Amino acid sequence: MSRSALRDAQAALQHHLPQRQDDWRPAYHLAPPVGWMNDPNGLVFFRGHYHVFYQHHPYSTAWGPMHWGHARSADLVHWEHLPVALAPDTEADRDGCFSGSAVVWDDTLYLIYTGHRWLGEPGREDQGLYQVQCLASSSDGLTFSKHGVIIEPPAPALQHFRDPKVWRQDGAWWLALGARAGDDPQLLLYRSTDLYRWDVLGCALAGTRALDGYMWECPDLFRLDDTDVFLYSPQGLAPSGYSRRNLYQTGYRLGRLDTSGRFQPRTPFVELDHGHDCYAAQTLAAPDGRRLLWAWLDMWESPMPSQAHGWCGQLSLPRELSLDGDRLRQRPARELVGLRQGAQLSAETRLCNERRPLPLQGDRLELQVELDLAGSDAERFGLALRCDPKGQEQTRLYVDAQAGRLVLDREQAGRGVTGVRSIPLAPGQARVKLQLFLDRSSLEVFVDDGAWVLSSRLYPRPDSQGLALFAHDGQARFGELQAWTLRDLQL
Ligand code: FRU
Repeated sequence: MSRSALRDAQAALQHHLPQRQDDWRPAYHLAPPVGWMNDPNGLVFFRGHYHVFYQHHPYSTAWGPMHWGHARSADLVHWEHLPVALAPDTEADRDGCFSGSAVVWDDTLYLIYTGHRWLGEPGREDQGLYQVQCLASSSDGLTFSKHGVIIEPPAPALQHFRDPKVWRQDGAWWLALGARAGDDPQLLLYRSTDLYRWDVLGCALAGTRALDGYMWECPDLFRLDDTDVFLYSPQGLAPSGYSRRNLYQTGYRLGRLDTSGRFQPRTPFVELDHGHDCYAAQTLAAPDGRRLLWAWLDMWESPMPSQAHGWCGQLSLPRELSLDGDRLRQRPARELVGLRQGAQLSAETRLCNERRPLPLQGDRLELQVELDLAGSDAERFGLALRCDPKGQEQTRLYVDAQAGRLVLDREQAGRGVTGVRSIPLAPGQARVKLQLFLDRSSLEVFVDDGAWVLSSRLYPRPDSQGLALFAHDGQARFGELQAWTLRDLQL
């Protein structure tokens, strides 16, 4: 690969760094040093480090010719930014090194990604595109050599053909990617013995526009317990009631990948996250066998006010996946307790038609609290976060007792963003257990030990740091509230 494209990208980062404004910069989530970030790519554990790559445009805060940004961590808490790993500098990837994955083989790190080309004017999808799968490798985990195209599209009509996920199974390498046949989505499978030459196994699962959307981006296939999980990001699903409210979704189907390479689903599509901002989730197998997931904590075409500050895009916290019947549970990676600093405790509280500010505040906090559903009759009760002293700015997380839902409301959450998202509470559910991670421009809510998660971006003023409990139209009981200030790692 031409070193000059990487040098130029690095120089652009250095050039823009002094102009960055940090009001909304995360304290402990991964974000690009400057410029644009989207999907997590190439999640892998290599020689003692977790490596996270990501879709990156170092030249501006808008999506553009995609590079692979790169960071690594030994403990999932402290991250080190590394030089840009891939730049679009060959004929095959001239307009972008799109999403893909990474594997380790013989102590070498391999990246498998989509080379993207516009056939007409850049950005004009209507004038056609050409996508191929490419290979690169590295012996030190820092600098990468490109080995060119390894998979061409089976037919020129298959223009959307991207996001390869590679894994090892039964003594071979397997690759799954998303393709768009006309307006119908497909999951295509390939197999290889050497990562260079691939045999097509065919279509593991085919969908239809009406039921499944028109494209499955960023597929991932992995086994949890005895079940195969097909994780993917469908485009083109219509909203339905409280579901699928975002432009695109990330979710999964459970089933079985049979020996002939067909995925036999046993469950319908389920959304992974119910907040406003979560897309293109990908996983890795940690050395101890845990399945860890990261997602892009943003959504295409949503407001991104930090673009005016010289950067945009943030990844989710790493989440541990487990299976609970026909649903996935996501818990914050256990290493994240290493983020905790000072702990504070606020006693059990009973409120009646009132709002009570808490004696703690902050913009980087972990909070744990149970809301007592059985012992409350308020119509709405919950927490207000990132409040300004006048109560004009706030993000609310509350129980709507009449609707039987837990609601995340960012109507007053600050610059640019709006809207509510919610999840159902089970009929007769006695309490709801909340674990919240608040960073300078994000909130991730883990509900009932990760049975549900809501992730959303917020852009409050830096001094909106108050916290309050409230109960409207009735009385409400809150359990003891535990709070930790989290480290300011300024990633
Ligand atoms: C998903 C996606 C991928 C593609 C990448 C381009 O967000 O559209 O399908 O590879 O982003 O940046």
